[in-house]
Amino acid sequence: MTSPALRRPPRRVCLGSIDDFPPGQVHQVGAQGTMLIVAQVADGEFCGVRDECPHLLLPLAGGALDGTQITCPHHASVFDMCTGDNRDWVRVRSGLPLPRWTRRLLDRGKSPPGLTVVPVIVEDGKLYAEL
Ligand code: FES
Repeated sequence: MTSPALRRPPRRVCLGSIDDFPPGQVHQVGAQGTMLIVAQVADGEFCGVRDECPHLLLPLAGGALDGTQITCPHHASVFDMCTGDNRDWVRVRSGLPLPRWTRRLLDRGKSPPGLTVVPVIVEDGKLYAEL
C-alpha cells in the first residue's frame, strides 16, 4: 500500500470548452489515453466516469442519460454518473428483458460494482478532469 505522502497529485486534463458539453447528453472524451464519459447533469453541474461498464468492461458511451443516471447500452445496467453507484444490474440479455429473480442469481448475492468516478471541474469556461 502506498503511503498517502508518496501518492502523486492528480493530473488535471482540459477536456474542452463547457460549450462543447450541452446538458442532458453523454459525451465520450479521451484524456491522455483514458476514455471518459462526461455529462452536464444540471445547469453547470458536470459528472465524469471512466468509460467502462463494470459488468463486461464494455464502453458506456451511447447509453441513455436520465438526470444523473446512465443506462449501459449493452445489458441495461443502471448507474449514477455522479456517485458511480449501481442502481440496477443487467436488465437485458440477448435483447430480452430479464426478470428480477434472474438478475439476483447473476449477481450471486453480492453488491454489483459501480463506476469509477473521475472528478471534473469547471474553471474559466473550460472543463477539466482530474486523473
Ligand atoms: S456491459 Fe454494461 S451491463 Fe453488460
